[in-house]
Amino acid sequence: MTDPRSTTPHLERYYSKRASEYEKVYEKPERQRELEWLRHRIPEILRGKTVLEVACGTGYWTQYIAPAARRVYAGDINEAVLEIARDKPIARGKATFLKADAVTLDGVPPGCNAAFAGFWWSHVKKSGITRFVANLAQRLERGSVVAILDNQFAEWSSTPLSRRDAEGNTYQMRRLANGEEFEVLKNFPTPEELADAVRPVAREAHLEALTYYWLMVFTLK
Ligand SMILES: C[S@@+](CC[C@H](N)C(=O)[O-])C[C@H]1O[C@@H](n2cnc3c(N)ncnc32)[C@H](O)[C@@H]1O
Repeated sequence: MTDPRSTTPHLERYYSKRASEYEKVYEKPERQRELEWLRHRIPEILRGKTVLEVACGTGYWTQYIAPAARRVYAGDINEAVLEIARDKPIARGKATFLKADAVTLDGVPPGCNAAFAGFWWSHVKKSGITRFVANLAQRLERGSVVAILDNQFAEWSSTPLSRRDAEGNTYQMRRLANGEEFEVLKNFPTPEELADAVRPVAREAHLEALTYYWLMVFTLK
């Protein structure tokens, strides 16, 4: 059986060490127009919902989703990013940050009717996507809306790919401010791969493909 956690201990360490510098990724000048659009689009999709946010990181998206949502339960594996997230200016009672594994989703509360995952899909091996989607769907109510945001590969803006493995997963070498380097799994799925991955659980799916980002929105059966 495929080990769905095979790359995550490494990812966990990388993002734990990157916590304080993580949000610099949202400062790239060429991406500002699309980010501005997404900061409005994503909360609109989740308006009034009880949202399960997967791998929430520093709460960058949580801070925009929470005012529109009924409530957000935002999980991440790393305390270092959750600490930053808990300092975000979010109204009391609108967001709960908790330690939760994105793969197993153990410990996330029942009763969510929406989900959001930002930049997590690309860190899941191709062989682990079906399980991730199935686990997520199982945690949500029927008819829930799910929004998945991730990167398009843009040669002039993205970190170059360092290698491709036998399964077709791609990797990047990432350098932290202190010079430490990590090889990080980062996949850039095709629209067909995305549609195939959600077909077993989705009633309908829609892909919004921008230059630097893609946003897939689907409704659970
Ligand atoms: C690319 S960041 C995305 C953060 C946030 N969603 C955003 O869009 O700004 C990936 C996040 O996944 C978290 N992570 C890594 N392995 C994880 C796991 N097994 N379960 C949950 N979160 C994990 C990292 O701590 C990091 O915060």
